[in-house]
Amino acid sequence: MESSPDGRNQLKKEVKRDFRVRTFEFPQDYEPVIRLWRIAGGGVHLGPSDTYEEIAKKLQRDPQLFLVAEKEGHVVGAVLGGFDGRRGLVYHLAVHPAERNRGVATALMEELEHRFRKIGCRRVYLLVAPENTTAQQFYERRGWQRMEILTYGKDLE
Ligand SMILES: CC(C)(COP(=O)(O)OP(=O)(O)OC[C@H]1O[C@@H](n2cnc3c(N)ncnc32)[C@H](O)[C@@H]1OP(=O)(O)O)[C@@H](O)C(=O)NCCC(=O)NCCS
Repeated sequence: MESSPDGRNQLKKEVKRDFRVRTFEFPQDYEPVIRLWRIAGGGVHLGPSDTYEEIAKKLQRDPQLFLVAEKEGHVVGAVLGGFDGRRGLVYHLAVHPAERNRGVATALMEELEHRFRKIGCRRVYLLVAPENTTAQQFYERRGWQRMEILTYGKDLE
């Protein structure tokens, strides 16, 4: 039995990578990604910012921060990043239920973090629902620290 740097035992067999991570292509990736987000479960909350028009608007800034994972021509994972010039934000990381625990989300986040660094982003935030313990563990094992802080939001319309 192998031991990982944090002491957890590695019982799972390493799955070989059979997908590739690439930049989201608009408009052809829009429908497959929305479908993926819809079936992802409670961790992804779709809202008014996810319409076709709003995604087109988002892509006017840092389009290289929207990534998909593709396997045999199908979108099996996605993550949307944004940079405001000071901080980065990560939205809607999701992997198709049949493709989980194979390293897809890890690859998406590694590539996204690489692209954030490349454009000078020094700190990144993301939001996780309190009941989403799978995502919390996923991020915490990858160096993300939970911040005990209240988050406020306001709709501007
Ligand atoms: C959270 C989520 C994105 C993780 O996606 P995933 O592709 O299953 O994540 P990964 O496969 O990269 O990593 C998960 C586990 O798979 C295993 N794994 C990763 N790569 C592997 C590989 N190559 N071979 C074998 N096992 C592997 C590891 O056990 C890993 O857990 P670890 O934290 O102990 O390292 C996915 O569960 C999901 O889509 N959830 C619903 C949406 C959601 O909640 N999103 C978060 C919004 S904040």
